[in-house]
Amino acid sequence: TTNATTITVTGAAGQIGYALLFRIASGQMLGDDVPVKLRLLEIPQAVRAAEGTAMELDDCAFPLLESIEVTDNVHHAFDGANVAMLVGARPRGAGMERADLLEANGGIFGPQGAAIGERAASDIRTVVVGNPANTNALIAAAHADGIPAERFTAMTRLDHNRAVAQLAQKTGATVDDIDGITIWGNHSATQHPDLSNATVAGRPATELVEDTWVRDEFIPRVAKRGAEIIDVRGASSAASAANAAIDHVRDWVLGMVPGAWTSAGIVSDGSYGVPEGLVSSFPVISRGGEWEIVPNIEIDAISRERIDASVAELISERDAVRSLGLIRD
Ligand code: NAI
Repeated sequence: TTNATTITVTGAAGQIGYALLFRIASGQMLGDDVPVKLRLLEIPQAVRAAEGTAMELDDCAFPLLESIEVTDNVHHAFDGANVAMLVGARPRGAGMERADLLEANGGIFGPQGAAIGERAASDIRTVVVGNPANTNALIAAAHADGIPAERFTAMTRLDHNRAVAQLAQKTGATVDDIDGITIWGNHSATQHPDLSNATVAGRPATELVEDTWVRDEFIPRVAKRGAEIIDVRGASSAASAANAAIDHVRDWVLGMVPGAWTSAGIVSDGSYGVPEGLVSSFPVISRGGEWEIVPNIEIDAISRERIDASVAELISERDAVRSLGLIRD
């Protein structure tokens, strides 16, 4: 009936879902002039909890929220979707091997990718938050017939935002002063948070901080921040993850301030020695509704080694899901 944007959120009854949906419905993701229709996908056991969240969304009387539907039907969930935020995933249980985890998530992201291919709108944009995010995005893309792989991305914006905040705090700057940070590789502890090209109010970050701080504090802290939050908060990052998902989709759909860059997990075109087809985090800008990899960035020796190690992990995850038959060669 209207020009509303249909947004499908999976794992809607989870903690990230709870931090995400109200902000989407209030207009913080797509702007305060864009009506939204929400589709909440959950597993059957969590549908009732998602219905409770939908009741609270009603109770906010958000002027932009045109409708909310809760479903456990993957096909219905993605019917006509313009934006898909794939948050729900299978967590690693006790004694679960990596192959078990990849297989369990293949059983989620394969069918969701297929349903997106069959039912979503032609402008569909998908961000995978649920871990292992990069490989889940690869699996979803491989099942979505007729949709360019570029429309499937993995969220590394939380890692990016964490890196910006750490550098701002260290240098006494504001986050607005920071530019040129990159998260490379996998959204895992092997990621490479790279500030070798960063600037702080226009000055090279490398002139303002010690190499030892970068190596011994900045890199491990950003890469392991998720574990630190669990340790201190007693629960995993939720509001900050939801915030990053909003940043990712907003920048992708609406574009970015010229000159600035951010990080996102996107399908590699072979840039920077990352094999074509892998979903890897890169320095990116968003223009005309597409992510573009920032070209011609200098990669120092330390970065090269760390990027290669993270990409090796992505390759091994891809090879594992191939041998499980979750994607074709
Ligand atoms: P949660 O456990 O609170 O919620 C997950 C929800 O997903 C549950 O309600 C569950 O019922 C649902 N779900 C499971 N399988 C589903 C399926 N097949 N279809 C629809 N829904 C399904 O977890 P939380 O804290 O909300 O985190 C969600 C995911 O996000 C986790 O995989 C977590 O590791 C990941 N994450 C990723 C981050 C990133 O930076 N990329 C940051 C933080 C979390």
